[in-house]
Amino acid sequence: MSETFLPFSRPSISEASIAEVVECLRSGWITTGPRTAQFSSDLKAFLSAPHALLLTSATAGLHLALLALELQPGDEVITTPLTFAATLNMIVLTGAKPVLVDIDPATRNIDVNLIEAAITPRTRVIMPVHFAGLPVDLDPLFALAEKYGLRVIEDAAHAIGAEYRGRKIGAIGDTQVFSFHPNKNMTTGEGGCVTTRDDTLAEKIALLRFHGMDREAWNRFGKSGTQDYEIIMPGFKYNMLDLQAALGIHQLKALEGFIERRTELANRYQEVLADWPQFSLPQEPDYAHRHAWHLYVPLINDAAAGMDRGTFMARMKEKNIGTGLHYRAVHLYPYYRETLGFKPGDFPLAESVCERIVSLPLFPGMSDAEQDRVIDVMYNMFNNETA
Ligand SMILES: Cc1ncc(COP(=O)(O)O)c(C=O)c1O
Repeated sequence: MSETFLPFSRPSISEASIAEVVECLRSGWITTGPRTAQFSSDLKAFLSAPHALLLTSATAGLHLALLALELQPGDEVITTPLTFAATLNMIVLTGAKPVLVDIDPATRNIDVNLIEAAITPRTRVIMPVHFAGLPVDLDPLFALAEKYGLRVIEDAAHAIGAEYRGRKIGAIGDTQVFSFHPNKNMTTGEGGCVTTRDDTLAEKIALLRFHGMDREAWNRFGKSGTQDYEIIMPGFKYNMLDLQAALGIHQLKALEGFIERRTELANRYQEVLADWPQFSLPQEPDYAHRHAWHLYVPLINDAAAGMDRGTFMARMKEKNIGTGLHYRAVHLYPYYRETLGFKPGDFPLAESVCERIVSLPLFPGMSDAEQDRVIDVMYNMFNNETA
């Protein structure tokens, strides 16, 4: 057995980005400032987005995007049960009610055909998640939003660099929230970004992310700034640091190469595992898209594998290979069962996927030899060893 642990994800940090972080540390300005401004304008250019608001996380982005819409208690936000808890948590923390719609088991994204039936007079927002980096079918979703006068906040935590019908996620639609957590396609350590075409929303988010202050610190303490400020509304402390942006500027430059490598590795898994009865593989939809391959997520077929997902993950770990679980069905966590009355069977397609899903190692720095090791270990586990 190889002694080195292969994680399911690892960030690729270039020497140039390390030098930029060091330069930032030596510059005398490490919080929000010129590097954050640079990173924001780079993202705007990359995504063809009029506003790119940098924050401490995508969780903060979901929080502020929803708060800026001034939802009232009882207002409803439609989303998917196959997501990270932050999606639902932020809906609840803004006083709204999450309304879930089951997934399309082929793409694992929200089934856009089922959304209309979930719309009520209290629905205000649809929040699709581009799961694993595969774009949701946005055209019919935007058509529904227009028909019912709803806002669309895309949880694009997995989807930087993904494309829908030839345009980047972030370049179309209403509002998007990206994550730069270390497992994501590009990272700032922790970090996130809201892109939007709505000037008023952008202005509110900019206020909410920094105390509700009309001038951020760089504008007050810089040479051209004035020290005074006004508080326009009570706000949070969700601003990205220049230290983080120093990383982000270089990660964005490398993103295209990262996604190309992720795609090569994902395609290889798809080819090699295609005939394995132990897995059901991710499927791609007919509409034109570019998958960002944040995650490679097959389902375990318990009977053919001779083990369930938990056993598979434990046995991979024994072989020094990390795997991930993205995600357990979010409606079945105790809080959501107790407060919203969700129960097993409510969203059977998502539940069936969530019980069997597993994330195999996939990251841009992963070598062909490392992928061979993952494949060989799984092959031997399924074919040559007793369970
Ligand atoms: C779908 C989804 N939404 C939101 C988030 C929150 O992102 P962050 O960790 O940047 O707050 C995540 C993080 O994993 C996620 O997967």
